[in-house]
Amino acid sequence: MGEHSNDRKQPSRDGSLDSRRVVLDVQDLRVHYATPRGDVIAVNGINFQVYEGETVGLVGESGCGKTTTAMAILRLVQPPGRIIGGRVMVEDTDLVSLSEKQLRQLRWVKLALIPQGAMNSLNPVMRIKDQIGDAITTHEGRLPADALKQRILDLLNQVGLPARVYGMYPHELSGGMKQRVCVAMAIALNPPLIIADEPTSALDVVVQRVVAQTLLDVKQRLGVSMILIGHDMGLQAQLVDRIIVMYAGNIVEIAPVREAFKNPLHPYTQLLIASIPSIKERKPLKVTEGLTHDLRNPPPGCVFQFRCPHAREICRALKPQLREYGSGHLTACHIYENAGEYERSAPIVTTATPSAALYAADLFKEVDPHGRAAS
Ligand SMILES: Nc1ncnc2c1ncn2[C@@H]1O[C@H](COP(=O)(O)OP(=O)(O)O)[C@@H](O)[C@H]1O
Ligand code: SF4
Ligand SMILES: [Mg+2]
Repeated sequence: MGEHSNDRKQPSRDGSLDSRRVVLDVQDLRVHYATPRGDVIAVNGINFQVYEGETVGLVGESGCGKTTTAMAILRLVQPPGRIIGGRVMVEDTDLVSLSEKQLRQLRWVKLALIPQGAMNSLNPVMRIKDQIGDAITTHEGRLPADALKQRILDLLNQVGLPARVYGMYPHELSGGMKQRVCVAMAIALNPPLIIADEPTSALDVVVQRVVAQTLLDVKQRLGVSMILIGHDMGLQAQLVDRIIVMYAGNIVEIAPVREAFKNPLHPYTQLLIASIPSIKERKPLKVTEGLTHDLRNPPPGCVFQFRCPHAREICRALKPQLREYGSGHLTACHIYENAGEYERSAPIVTTATPSAALYAADLFKEVDPHGRAAS
Protein backbone atom coordinates (compact mmCIF):
# COMPACT_ATOMS: atom_id res chain seq x y z
CA MET A 1 0.00 0.00 0.00
CA GLY A 2 1.93 3.00 -1.25
CA GLU A 3 1.24 6.18 0.60
CA HIS A 4 0.49 8.11 -2.55
CA SER A 5 -2.01 5.72 -4.00
CA ASN A 6 -3.55 5.63 -0.58
CA ASP A 7 -3.70 9.40 -0.48
CA ARG A 8 -5.54 9.46 -3.75
CA LYS A 9 -8.23 7.30 -2.28
CA GLN A 10 -8.61 9.47 0.76
CA PRO A 11 -11.24 12.14 0.81
CA SER A 12 -9.83 15.54 0.35
CA ARG A 13 -8.37 17.09 3.44
CA ASP A 14 -8.95 20.62 2.34
CA GLY A 15 -12.63 20.30 3.03
CA SER A 16 -13.74 20.24 -0.61
CA LEU A 17 -16.09 17.38 0.01
CA ASP A 18 -19.11 18.60 -1.85
CA SER A 19 -18.61 16.60 -5.01
CA ARG A 20 -18.61 13.29 -3.20
CA ARG A 21 -21.65 11.19 -2.57
CA VAL A 22 -23.20 11.40 0.87
CA VAL A 23 -23.83 7.90 2.24
CA LEU A 24 -25.30 9.02 5.56
CA ASP A 25 -26.95 12.29 6.45
CA VAL A 26 -27.86 12.75 10.11
CA GLN A 27 -30.20 15.68 10.61
CA ASP A 28 -31.12 17.20 13.97
CA LEU A 29 -31.01 13.81 15.71
CA ARG A 30 -32.29 13.84 19.29
CA VAL A 31 -32.29 10.96 21.74
CA HIS A 32 -33.54 11.02 25.32
CA TYR A 33 -33.52 8.43 28.10
CA ALA A 34 -36.49 8.64 30.42
CA THR A 35 -35.57 8.48 34.11
CA PRO A 36 -37.65 9.05 37.24
CA ARG A 37 -36.01 12.45 37.64
CA GLY A 38 -36.58 13.58 34.07
CA ASP A 39 -35.19 12.92 30.61
CA VAL A 40 -31.46 12.50 30.08
CA ILE A 41 -30.72 14.45 26.90
CA ALA A 42 -28.11 12.08 25.49
CA VAL A 43 -28.07 13.39 21.92
CA ASN A 44 -29.17 16.97 21.53
CA GLY A 45 -29.91 17.76 17.90
CA ILE A 46 -26.79 16.72 16.01
CA ASN A 47 -26.10 17.15 12.29
CA PHE A 48 -23.38 15.54 10.22
CA GLN A 49 -22.74 13.71 6.96
CA VAL A 50 -20.55 10.78 6.00
CA TYR A 51 -19.20 10.73 2.46
CA GLU A 52 -18.51 7.76 0.27
CA GLY A 53 -15.26 5.99 1.14
CA GLU A 54 -14.29 8.16 4.09
CA THR A 55 -13.67 7.30 7.72
CA VAL A 56 -15.15 9.68 10.22
CA GLY A 57 -14.02 9.63 13.83
CA LEU A 58 -16.58 10.31 16.53
CA VAL A 59 -14.79 11.28 19.73
CA GLY A 60 -15.52 12.60 23.19
CA GLU A 61 -15.37 11.47 26.77
CA SER A 62 -17.36 8.61 28.17
CA GLY A 63 -21.01 9.59 28.53
CA CYS A 64 -21.02 12.26 25.80
CA GLY A 65 -23.45 10.31 23.60
CA LYS A 66 -21.31 8.40 21.09
CA THR A 67 -22.89 4.98 21.56
CA THR A 68 -26.36 6.49 21.71
CA THR A 69 -25.68 8.21 18.38
CA ALA A 70 -24.55 4.93 16.81
CA MET A 71 -27.54 3.02 18.15
CA ALA A 72 -29.92 5.76 17.04
CA ILE A 73 -28.54 5.72 13.49
CA LEU A 74 -29.46 2.04 13.23
CA ARG A 75 -32.58 2.66 15.32
CA LEU A 76 -31.44 0.20 17.94
CA VAL A 77 -31.87 2.49 20.96
CA GLN A 78 -33.51 0.47 23.72
CA PRO A 79 -36.07 1.75 26.24
CA PRO A 80 -35.97 3.85 28.34
CA GLY A 81 -34.19 5.52 25.43
CA ARG A 82 -36.10 6.89 22.48
CA ILE A 83 -35.48 8.98 19.40
CA ILE A 84 -37.24 12.27 20.02
CA GLY A 85 -36.67 13.80 16.64
CA GLY A 86 -34.53 14.15 13.57
CA ARG A 87 -33.79 12.19 10.44
CA VAL A 88 -31.22 9.58 9.48
CA MET A 89 -31.04 9.67 5.70
CA VAL A 90 -29.48 6.75 3.82
CA GLU A 91 -29.82 7.47 0.13
CA ASP A 92 -33.36 8.84 -0.03
CA THR A 93 -34.68 6.86 2.89
CA ASP A 94 -35.21 8.21 6.39
CA LEU A 95 -34.48 5.32 8.75
CA VAL A 96 -36.26 7.06 11.62
CA SER A 97 -39.61 6.86 9.86
CA LEU A 98 -39.40 3.29 8.51
CA SER A 99 -41.42 0.41 9.90
CA GLU A 100 -39.46 -2.17 11.89
CA LYS A 101 -39.89 -4.65 9.05
CA GLN A 102 -38.54 -2.26 6.41
CA LEU A 103 -35.69 -1.44 8.71
CA ARG A 104 -34.72 -5.07 9.20
CA GLN A 105 -34.19 -5.34 5.45
CA LEU A 106 -31.79 -2.39 5.43
CA ARG A 107 -29.79 -3.00 8.60
CA TRP A 108 -26.50 -4.81 7.92
CA VAL A 109 -27.15 -4.41 4.18
CA LYS A 110 -26.98 -0.61 3.98
CA LEU A 111 -25.18 -0.07 7.22
CA ALA A 112 -23.62 -2.37 9.78
CA LEU A 113 -22.66 -1.86 13.40
CA ILE A 114 -19.79 -3.36 15.33
CA PRO A 115 -21.24 -2.68 18.78
CA GLN A 116 -19.23 -1.59 21.79
CA GLY A 117 -17.88 -4.78 23.39
CA ALA A 118 -18.88 -6.81 20.31
CA MET A 119 -16.32 -9.52 20.86
CA ASN A 120 -17.86 -10.38 24.20
CA SER A 121 -21.28 -10.79 22.69
CA LEU A 122 -20.34 -13.60 20.32
CA ASN A 123 -22.42 -16.67 21.13
CA PRO A 124 -20.14 -18.92 23.24
CA VAL A 125 -21.80 -22.17 22.13
CA MET A 126 -21.78 -21.50 18.38
CA ARG A 127 -18.85 -22.09 16.08
CA ILE A 128 -17.55 -19.05 14.20
CA LYS A 129 -18.72 -20.49 10.87
CA ASP A 130 -22.29 -20.72 12.16
CA GLN A 131 -22.30 -17.18 13.58
CA ILE A 132 -21.00 -15.66 10.35
CA GLY A 133 -23.19 -18.04 8.33
CA ASP A 134 -26.29 -16.89 10.22
CA ALA A 135 -25.48 -13.25 9.49
CA ILE A 136 -25.47 -14.10 5.77
CA THR A 137 -28.43 -16.47 5.52
CA THR A 138 -30.70 -14.33 7.68
CA HIS A 139 -30.65 -11.77 4.88
CA GLU A 140 -29.98 -13.81 1.80
CA GLY A 141 -31.83 -17.00 2.60
CA ARG A 142 -30.28 -20.42 2.27
CA LEU A 143 -27.19 -20.79 0.09
CA PRO A 144 -25.60 -24.00 -1.24
CA ALA A 145 -23.32 -25.30 1.54
CA ASP A 146 -20.17 -25.00 -0.58
CA ALA A 147 -20.90 -21.43 -1.59
CA LEU A 148 -21.61 -20.43 2.00
CA LYS A 149 -18.42 -22.07 3.22
CA GLN A 150 -16.38 -20.26 0.58
CA ARG A 151 -18.02 -16.96 1.49
CA ILE A 152 -17.16 -17.42 5.17
CA LEU A 153 -13.57 -18.44 4.42
CA ASP A 154 -13.22 -15.37 2.18
CA LEU A 155 -14.50 -13.15 4.96
CA LEU A 156 -12.06 -14.65 7.47
CA ASN A 157 -9.29 -14.07 4.98
CA GLN A 158 -10.37 -10.46 4.46
CA VAL A 159 -9.90 -9.76 8.16
CA GLY A 160 -6.60 -11.60 8.30
CA LEU A 161 -7.77 -14.70 10.18
CA PRO A 162 -6.53 -18.19 9.31
CA ALA A 163 -8.97 -20.71 7.82
CA ARG A 164 -8.87 -22.86 10.96
CA VAL A 165 -10.92 -20.21 12.77
CA TYR A 166 -13.86 -21.42 10.65
CA GLY A 167 -14.54 -24.40 12.90
CA MET A 168 -13.57 -22.81 16.22
CA TYR A 169 -15.57 -21.54 19.17
CA PRO A 170 -15.15 -17.98 20.51
CA HIS A 171 -13.37 -19.14 23.69
CA GLU A 172 -10.63 -20.64 21.53
CA LEU A 173 -9.80 -17.21 20.12
CA SER A 174 -7.88 -14.27 21.54
CA GLY A 175 -9.60 -10.90 22.04
CA GLY A 176 -8.10 -9.50 18.87
CA MET A 177 -9.22 -12.50 16.83
CA LYS A 178 -12.75 -12.28 18.22
CA GLN A 179 -12.87 -8.62 17.37
CA ARG A 180 -11.80 -9.47 13.82
CA VAL A 181 -14.60 -12.04 13.62
CA CYS A 182 -16.95 -9.16 14.47
CA VAL A 183 -15.45 -7.12 11.65
CA ALA A 184 -16.00 -10.11 9.32
CA MET A 185 -19.65 -10.24 10.36
CA ALA A 186 -20.05 -6.52 9.76
CA ILE A 187 -18.74 -6.78 6.20
CA ALA A 188 -20.57 -10.04 5.43
CA LEU A 189 -23.34 -8.33 3.45
CA ASN A 190 -21.13 -5.71 1.84
CA PRO A 191 -22.66 -2.65 3.47
CA PRO A 192 -21.45 0.71 2.14
CA LEU A 193 -21.17 2.01 5.72
CA ILE A 194 -19.83 0.44 8.91
CA ILE A 195 -20.10 1.96 12.37
CA ALA A 196 -17.47 0.61 14.76
CA ASP A 197 -18.06 1.54 18.40
CA GLU A 198 -14.74 1.56 20.29
CA PRO A 199 -13.51 -1.48 18.36
CA THR A 200 -10.11 -1.50 20.03
CA SER A 201 -10.91 -0.33 23.54
CA ALA A 202 -10.76 -3.59 25.46
CA LEU A 203 -7.53 -4.73 23.77
CA ASP A 204 -3.92 -4.23 24.69
CA VAL A 205 -1.88 -1.80 22.66
CA VAL A 206 -0.28 -4.30 20.29
CA VAL A 207 -3.57 -6.01 19.50
CA GLN A 208 -5.23 -2.61 19.10
CA ARG A 209 -2.85 -1.94 16.25
CA VAL A 210 -3.69 -5.24 14.57
CA VAL A 211 -7.41 -4.61 14.76
CA ALA A 212 -6.97 -1.00 13.65
CA GLN A 213 -4.93 -2.21 10.68
CA THR A 214 -7.65 -4.75 9.85
CA LEU A 215 -10.20 -1.96 9.77
CA LEU A 216 -7.95 0.15 7.55
CA ASP A 217 -7.39 -2.77 5.18
CA VAL A 218 -11.10 -3.50 4.97
CA LYS A 219 -11.83 0.12 4.32
CA GLN A 220 -9.24 0.36 1.58
CA ARG A 221 -10.08 -2.93 -0.09
CA LEU A 222 -13.84 -2.59 0.01
CA GLY A 223 -14.06 1.18 -0.24
CA VAL A 224 -16.61 1.29 2.58
CA SER A 225 -17.29 4.37 4.61
CA MET A 226 -16.76 4.09 8.33
CA ILE A 227 -17.71 5.84 11.51
CA LEU A 228 -15.06 5.01 14.03
CA ILE A 229 -16.10 5.76 17.58
CA GLY A 230 -13.34 6.13 20.11
CA HIS A 231 -11.73 8.20 22.76
CA ASP A 232 -8.14 7.51 21.80
CA MET A 233 -7.14 10.63 19.94
CA GLY A 234 -3.83 9.10 18.89
CA LEU A 235 -5.53 6.18 17.20
CA GLN A 236 -8.01 8.52 15.59
CA ALA A 237 -5.16 10.55 14.18
CA GLN A 238 -3.97 7.44 12.37
CA LEU A 239 -7.24 6.10 11.13
CA VAL A 240 -9.74 8.79 10.27
CA ASP A 241 -10.18 11.36 7.54
CA ARG A 242 -12.44 13.70 9.42
CA ILE A 243 -13.15 14.03 13.09
CA ILE A 244 -16.36 14.90 14.90
CA VAL A 245 -16.04 15.98 18.51
CA MET A 246 -18.99 15.55 20.87
CA TYR A 247 -19.51 17.07 24.26
CA ALA A 248 -22.56 16.39 26.44
CA GLY A 249 -24.76 15.30 23.55
CA ASN A 250 -23.71 18.07 21.20
CA ILE A 251 -21.27 18.27 18.31
CA VAL A 252 -18.80 21.01 19.12
CA GLU A 253 -16.35 20.62 16.23
CA ILE A 254 -16.06 18.90 12.83
CA ALA A 255 -12.84 19.08 10.85
CA PRO A 256 -10.55 17.22 8.46
CA VAL A 257 -8.28 15.27 10.80
CA ARG A 258 -5.06 17.18 10.22
CA GLU A 259 -6.84 20.45 10.61
CA ALA A 260 -8.41 19.22 13.86
CA PHE A 261 -5.03 18.41 15.34
CA LYS A 262 -3.09 21.36 13.99
CA ASN A 263 -5.70 24.04 14.38
CA PRO A 264 -8.38 22.89 16.80
CA LEU A 265 -10.89 25.69 17.22
CA HIS A 266 -13.12 24.58 20.06
CA PRO A 267 -11.65 24.89 23.56
CA TYR A 268 -12.84 21.33 24.30
CA THR A 269 -11.04 19.91 21.27
CA GLN A 270 -7.97 21.82 22.40
CA LEU A 271 -8.30 20.22 25.81
CA LEU A 272 -8.66 16.74 24.30
CA ILE A 273 -5.55 17.13 22.23
CA ALA A 274 -3.60 18.69 25.06
CA SER A 275 -4.46 15.74 27.28
CA ILE A 276 -2.90 13.15 24.97
CA PRO A 277 0.06 12.07 27.09
CA SER A 278 2.10 10.79 24.16
CA ILE A 279 1.47 8.50 21.29
CA LYS A 280 3.56 5.76 22.80
CA GLU A 281 1.73 5.81 26.07
CA ARG A 282 -1.86 5.72 24.92
CA LYS A 283 -4.58 5.82 27.50
CA PRO A 284 -8.24 6.58 27.53
CA LEU A 285 -8.93 10.28 27.58
CA LYS A 286 -7.96 11.68 30.89
CA VAL A 287 -9.06 15.22 31.12
CA THR A 288 -9.19 17.14 34.34
CA GLU A 289 -12.86 16.59 35.07
CA GLY A 290 -15.82 14.72 33.64
CA LEU A 291 -19.04 16.26 32.42
CA THR A 292 -19.87 19.11 34.69
CA HIS A 293 -23.60 19.33 34.35
CA ASP A 294 -26.49 16.93 34.69
CA LEU A 295 -27.62 15.87 31.22
CA ARG A 296 -31.18 16.14 32.49
CA ASN A 297 -30.71 19.80 33.03
CA PRO A 298 -28.28 21.40 30.59
CA PRO A 299 -27.45 25.04 31.27
CA PRO A 300 -28.59 27.79 28.95
CA GLY A 301 -25.80 28.90 26.65
CA CYS A 302 -22.74 26.83 25.80
CA VAL A 303 -22.57 23.20 27.01
CA PHE A 304 -18.88 23.59 27.75
CA GLN A 305 -19.11 26.78 29.81
CA PHE A 306 -18.26 25.20 33.19
CA ARG A 307 -14.95 23.82 32.01
CA CYS A 308 -13.97 26.39 29.45
CA PRO A 309 -10.95 28.56 30.22
CA HIS A 310 -12.32 31.22 27.87
CA ALA A 311 -15.92 31.42 29.10
CA ARG A 312 -17.56 34.86 29.00
CA GLU A 313 -20.95 36.20 29.97
CA ILE A 314 -22.30 35.60 26.50
CA CYS A 315 -21.40 31.90 26.84
CA ARG A 316 -23.79 31.61 29.77
CA ALA A 317 -26.63 33.29 27.93
CA LEU A 318 -26.56 32.14 24.33
CA LYS A 319 -25.95 28.72 22.82
CA PRO A 320 -23.32 28.94 20.06
CA GLN A 321 -24.30 27.31 16.76
CA LEU A 322 -22.15 24.93 14.73
CA ARG A 323 -20.79 27.09 11.91
CA GLU A 324 -18.14 26.75 9.25
CA TYR A 325 -14.97 28.82 9.74
CA GLY A 326 -12.68 27.24 7.19
CA SER A 327 -13.22 24.82 4.40
CA GLY A 328 -14.99 21.86 6.02
CA HIS A 329 -14.03 23.08 9.48
CA LEU A 330 -16.97 23.74 11.76
CA THR A 331 -17.23 24.65 15.40
CA ALA A 332 -19.78 25.87 17.92
CA CYS A 333 -18.14 28.58 19.98
CA HIS A 334 -18.72 32.29 20.60
CA ILE A 335 -15.03 33.08 20.25
CA TYR A 336 -15.58 32.71 16.51
CA GLU A 337 -19.30 33.22 16.18
CA ASN A 338 -19.63 36.48 18.05
CA ALA A 339 -16.11 37.78 18.15
CA GLY A 340 -17.02 41.41 18.95
CA GLU A 341 -19.64 40.59 21.52
CA TYR A 342 -17.38 37.92 22.98
CA GLU A 343 -14.52 40.37 23.49
CA ARG A 344 -16.77 42.98 25.07
CA SER A 345 -18.34 40.62 27.60
CA ALA A 346 -16.61 39.97 30.91
CA PRO A 347 -14.48 36.83 31.28
CA ILE A 348 -15.52 34.17 33.76
CA VAL A 349 -12.55 32.74 35.57
CA THR A 350 -11.98 28.99 35.03
CA THR A 351 -8.98 26.71 34.86
CA ALA A 352 -6.43 27.36 32.14
CA THR A 353 -5.70 24.99 29.26
CA PRO A 354 -2.33 24.56 27.60
CA SER A 355 -2.10 25.35 23.95
CA ALA A 356 -3.14 22.46 21.74
CA ALA A 357 -0.99 23.51 18.84
CA LEU A 358 2.18 22.56 20.70
CA TYR A 359 0.96 19.01 21.08
CA ALA A 360 -0.49 18.74 17.61
CA ALA A 361 2.85 19.29 15.94
CA ASP A 362 4.40 16.41 17.91
CA LEU A 363 1.49 14.12 17.32
CA PHE A 364 1.79 14.24 13.57
CA LYS A 365 5.49 13.78 13.75
CA GLU A 366 4.99 10.51 15.58
CA VAL A 367 1.95 9.12 13.80
CA ASP A 368 2.46 8.83 10.13
CA PRO A 369 1.01 5.76 8.47
CA HIS A 370 -0.20 7.74 5.44
CA GLY A 371 2.43 10.36 5.10
CA ARG A 372 0.09 12.75 6.83
CA ALA A 373 2.93 14.36 8.71
CA ALA A 374 4.83 15.08 5.54
CA SER A 375 3.91 18.73 5.30
N1 LIG B 1 -30.40 3.28 29.71
C1 LIG B 1 -30.05 4.52 30.06
N2 LIG B 1 -30.77 5.22 30.98
C2 LIG B 1 -30.42 6.48 31.34
N3 LIG B 1 -29.37 7.14 30.81
C3 LIG B 1 -28.62 6.50 29.91
C4 LIG B 1 -28.91 5.16 29.47
N4 LIG B 1 -27.99 4.78 28.56
C5 LIG B 1 -27.16 5.84 28.42
N5 LIG B 1 -27.54 6.86 29.23
C6 LIG B 1 -26.89 8.17 29.35
O1 LIG B 1 -26.78 8.75 28.08
C7 LIG B 1 -25.55 9.45 27.99
C8 LIG B 1 -24.80 9.02 26.76
O2 LIG B 1 -24.37 7.68 26.92
P1 LIG B 1 -23.56 6.92 25.79
O3 LIG B 1 -24.22 7.16 24.49
O4 LIG B 1 -23.39 5.52 26.23
O5 LIG B 1 -22.17 7.70 25.82
P2 LIG B 1 -20.73 7.27 25.28
O6 LIG B 1 -20.89 6.14 24.31
O7 LIG B 1 -20.20 8.51 24.66
O8 LIG B 1 -19.95 6.88 26.48
C9 LIG B 1 -24.78 9.19 29.28
O9 LIG B 1 -24.89 10.30 30.11
C10 LIG B 1 -25.48 8.01 29.86
O10 LIG B 1 -25.45 8.06 31.26
S1 SF4 C 1 -18.82 29.39 23.64
FE1 SF4 C 1 -17.73 30.26 25.38
S2 SF4 C 1 -17.81 28.66 26.97
FE2 SF4 C 1 -18.34 27.72 25.02
S3 SF4 C 1 -16.45 26.89 24.26
FE3 SF4 C 1 -16.67 28.92 23.34
S4 SF4 C 1 -15.62 30.33 24.73
FE4 SF4 C 1 -15.91 28.42 25.83
MG1 LIG D 1 -20.00 4.24 24.32
